[in-house]
This record gives sequence, C-alpha cells and structure tokens, in this order.
Amino acid sequence: SDVKKGNAAREAALADLQAAAACLRQGETVAFPTETVYGLGADARSTEAVEAVFAAKGRPSDNPLIVHIAHRDQLHELVTEVNATAEALMAAFWPGPLTLVLPVRPGAVSPRVTAGLDTVAVRMPDHPVALPLIAAAACPVAAPSANRSGRPSPTLAAHVREDLDGRIGGIVDGGPTGVGVESTVVQAGDDGTVTILRPGGITAEQLSAVAARVATDPALLAEGSGGDSNSPAPRSPGMKYTHYAPAGALCVVEGPPAAVAAWTRAALAEAAQRGERTAVLAFAEHAEQYRADAVFSLGNASELQEAARRLYAALRSCDEQGATYIVAEACSREGLGAAVMNRLLKAAGNQLIQVG
Ligand code: TXA
Ligand code: MG
Repeated sequence: SDVKKGNAAREAALADLQAAAACLRQGETVAFPTETVYGLGADARSTEAVEAVFAAKGRPSDNPLIVHIAHRDQLHELVTEVNATAEALMAAFWPGPLTLVLPVRPGAVSPRVTAGLDTVAVRMPDHPVALPLIAAAACPVAAPSANRSGRPSPTLAAHVREDLDGRIGGIVDGGPTGVGVESTVVQAGDDGTVTILRPGGITAEQLSAVAARVATDPALLAEGSGGDSNSPAPRSPGMKYTHYAPAGALCVVEGPPAAVAAWTRAALAEAAQRGERTAVLAFAEHAEQYRADAVFSLGNASELQEAARRLYAALRSCDEQGATYIVAEACSREGLGAAVMNRLLKAAGNQLIQVG
C-alpha cells in the first residue's frame, strides 16, 4: 500500500543517515544538504578528515571552515565565551542560516578548521536531513560548501556529483536546498554591535531587529562599489577569493531598469557580433526582451528569495552552455539582495557597470 511505501521510504532515508553518520564518525567526508547549500562534512576534531575536505575541494588552507552543530549544548565544547548579543542572535535565528564567529576553545577542533585563527565559526542548520545527521554523527561537523573551490556552491546533489564525484566518501541527496545562498557570517561585539563578515540567508534588516547596531565589514563595502584597490583585508578570509565564477567573462549591470535593459541589449548584440557565445541572467520583467544564446530568469526583481534560490544553478548553466560573455542584471541591495549582489559581484570578479 501507499502507507507502507511511505514508511519504507522513510526507513531507507533513515538508514542512509545512519550510514552517513557512521562515515563521518570513521573520518570520511560526506556531502549533505542544508537549508542554504550542500556542505561537505567531516569530523571537525580530526585533522585527517578535515584535510580530506580541503583536498577534495582544492581549497586554500588559509580559508577556515564553518563547524555545524545540532544542539545548543554542543556549543560550549567548541567556544570559550558567548556574549549577550551572540546569545540573542542564536535565540532568534538558530537553527537557521546564521554563522557566529566565536572565541575557539583550544583543542576543541583541528587547527586546520580554524586556519590558525583564535576564533571558530559555528552554525546550526535548519534542515530535516542535516540536523539528524549531525546529531547521529555525535561530533561537531566541519563543512564548507560542497563545490570544487572557485565553482558556484551546490544547490542540488547533482551539482555536488559534478564537482566532487569520486573525491569524497558519499552524498546524502536531500533534494534542492531552500535559501540557495550561504549563511550570513557575523561577529557579535561586546558592545552589542553585530558585524556582517559575509552577507547571506539572514538579512541585515533581520539582524537589526535583534542587535543594538549592525555594521558591515568595511572590506565588503569596498568591493560592492566595484573598486578593488586599497581595500582592507576581509575579516572572513574566504571573502578575498574569487568565488562562484563561471568560465565565461561576466559583468553585472546596475542602474534604472530601462537603462539596464538598453545597455544589456546593446552589449549582447555587440558580443554576438564578435562571435561570443552569450548568456544573460535577468529578472523576469526583462528576460523576454533579451536575445542571447542562453537566457536565465532570476524570478521577479521584487522577490529576491527566488533570485537567491536560482543564482548558483544559473551560473553553472552558463558553463554548461559554453557561454563566453555573460551579463547579469543587478538587484536591490536590500534584504536578501545584499547576499545576491555580493555573490554576483564575486562571480564577476567585481566587474560592475553603472548605467543611467
Ligand atoms: O551556508 C553555509 O554557511 C554553508 C553550508 C554548507 O553550511 N557553508 C559555507 O562554508 O558556506 P564555506 O566554507 O564555503 O564558507 C565559510 C566562510 C568563509 O568565508 C570563511 O572564511 C568564513 O566562513 N569563516 C570560517 N571561519 C571563520 C572565522 N573563524 N573567522 C572569520 N570567518 C570565518
Ligand atoms: Mg563556499
């Protein structure tokens, strides 16, 4: 019967999780879904396991990993101190796409996880596969996004296979992830200031409802202006790398909608003339008017959850289509738009064109 089939499916999924948890406990790497993107997990206490994560991804070793937990009582094993602001943030947003950078308890995780910093980034994901998996593994799980370093983060198990097949212990397929961009990484100061080191699934507006003051790492603001010289070093080491980049040349165009559309149409036409293979990432309002070899809609400009959800798959598709010249429309930098624009500009190597 259907009920029996349903039960069998649940049992199979559970067996999978138990097997995946056993892999983690044995020091293997396992890719698993979270509410943001797929992560590549390993026992954070094991240097060997964590080194296997860096090796599989081809990740620079000076870029520290986020440690994932399933229960609040795992936190005190990892960190020495949680101030009142950090407490308030966890109460408001855990489980969820918020990562807190906290003072690491010496010896709690492999030094490879923290890349030698005296802090550790911790988050509790809000996902029906990730949480029971981490709980069953019974260890803190270090997990960067499960992509090859420099590739867009994976929002489907198929993306993980594309990048890491044969290089990792296993994949737990939980279907598409929800948010589509990574967690927001913050540091909570003793004065109540929350500093955003990486914009993500929890917005600055949401943080403002809980924190006395919300600031953004100055290094991020310098990037967002399209400039790149003389920028301060980002406090989140990962933000200094070119990430998420498709193989083709990508630029982001920002301005009044009519000017953006006119510039983009002209740029695509010129590129086609030069013999480029063109692609465009556009909001639904404009997508139909563009002529390109591949047109990807990011949904309505007023519903940026959809843009966040579709962005990485669209960037991967640009590669699949062999696009050599790609234009992406900018979006508002409010709400989730801050994260979407941050990732777009990283993918574009900061090529921002202001029009109008
Ligand atoms: O949503 C997410 O956060 C996903 C899923 C899998 O949980 N994970 C993820 O991990 O995006 P990863 O490794 O791709 O990005 C981790 C970011 C990097 O920018 C890294 O530099 C920063 O967190 N980070 C890690 N530890 C840090 C620390 N101690 N201080 C400052 N930044 C840190
Ligand atoms: Mg990543």
